[in-house]
Amino acid sequence: MSVIARQIVLARRPEGAARPDDFALAEVPLGAPGAGEVLVRNLWLSLDPYMRLYMADSGSIHGSVALGEAMPGGAVGEVIASASEALPVGALVLSMAHGWRDHYLAPAAQLQPVSADLGPVQRWLGLYGLTGVTAWGGIHGVLKPQPGETLFINAAAGAVGSIAVQLAKRAGARVIASAGSDAKCAWVQELGADHAINYRREDLAARLAQLAPGGIDAALDNVGGSQLEILIDAAARQGRIALCGAIALYDSANYRAGPRNLFATIEKHVTLTGFNAGFYFPEASAIIADLAAAEAEGALTDTETVLEGLDAMPQGFVDLMAGAGRGKMLVRL
Ligand SMILES: NC(=O)c1ccc[n+]([C@@H]2O[C@H](COP(=O)([O-])OP(=O)(O)OC[C@H]3O[C@@H](n4cnc5c(N)ncnc54)[C@H](OP(=O)(O)O)[C@@H]3O)[C@@H](O)[C@H]2O)c1
Repeated sequence: MSVIARQIVLARRPEGAARPDDFALAEVPLGAPGAGEVLVRNLWLSLDPYMRLYMADSGSIHGSVALGEAMPGGAVGEVIASASEALPVGALVLSMAHGWRDHYLAPAAQLQPVSADLGPVQRWLGLYGLTGVTAWGGIHGVLKPQPGETLFINAAAGAVGSIAVQLAKRAGARVIASAGSDAKCAWVQELGADHAINYRREDLAARLAQLAPGGIDAALDNVGGSQLEILIDAAARQGRIALCGAIALYDSANYRAGPRNLFATIEKHVTLTGFNAGFYFPEASAIIADLAAAEAEGALTDTETVLEGLDAMPQGFVDLMAGAGRGKMLVRL
């Protein structure tokens, strides 16, 4: 079997925010799989903020995408031709590299077989994949909230944030969330947040001082930049901050830039812990079991924003970065 694969390539490195025409469509003929390989038809593609880092030539720990090269990313697909006993035709597979395209050839050993028994297959990109493992790692691996503690989460209506809000509530914390619109704030309160702050309209520092006059015990920071500085100032003595991401800096020349008020962590004995979901993947089956239990208890709702078709990827990515989605943003092929 051979197919013409359609894939989205990087056409231009963005200056500032990514734009749809930073991407282009390319067609690539794929032959039959060689020994040990499989041909996969993607069913679901993931959209994630880290993809912005691949688009820069400074590179992240993941490296950079060359101009004209297909964008990498997560995908769940179905094997449609196989030269591997490990993955027969019909097997469902997760790839963390072969997103942004409709078909690909890859060694079976690079792919993770996944099952539809645990719910919709796209969950391997969301609740049971990078998103859920990250939220669980931030809340239970790093912050370990105690009942009654005040815990803050920003980008709370996003993929990681919306799961993290619910896990923190289930652990008994008092949750303060922030998001970029009143509608998103209302929604994160429906998910269980005790308070929600629209950071675009309200003064985040002033609202935190009002809602947590004794300081914040724990915070999950998805945003970085000036919001991280506000969190450091708002932290209680011996507070702890889990550094999950810095989306506010991904469009800038140095997304690794640190906060300017680091000394306050010394004054207040505040712990900043950077964490990477990759460190939690060895425990993924126990984490997934806990997420499934939370859902079965009624303590967790999984929310997706679903776009249709490969051509939706470029605009979808731009919209993700600008805050258009709720929960996990995915593209169905
Ligand atoms: N450490 C890890 O292993 C790991 C793994 C996955 C993700 N992450 C990080 O976790 C964060 C969230 O990722 P996600 O997949 O869940 O994406 P997401 O939250 O679903 O989408 C990003 C959200 O960030 C908000 N945002 C964008 N620019 C912002 C700004 N300048 N200031 C404040 N908020 C801004 C937007 O929501 P609003 O409308 O609310 O502004 C947007 O919806 C990202 O920083 C990501 O890189 C880390």
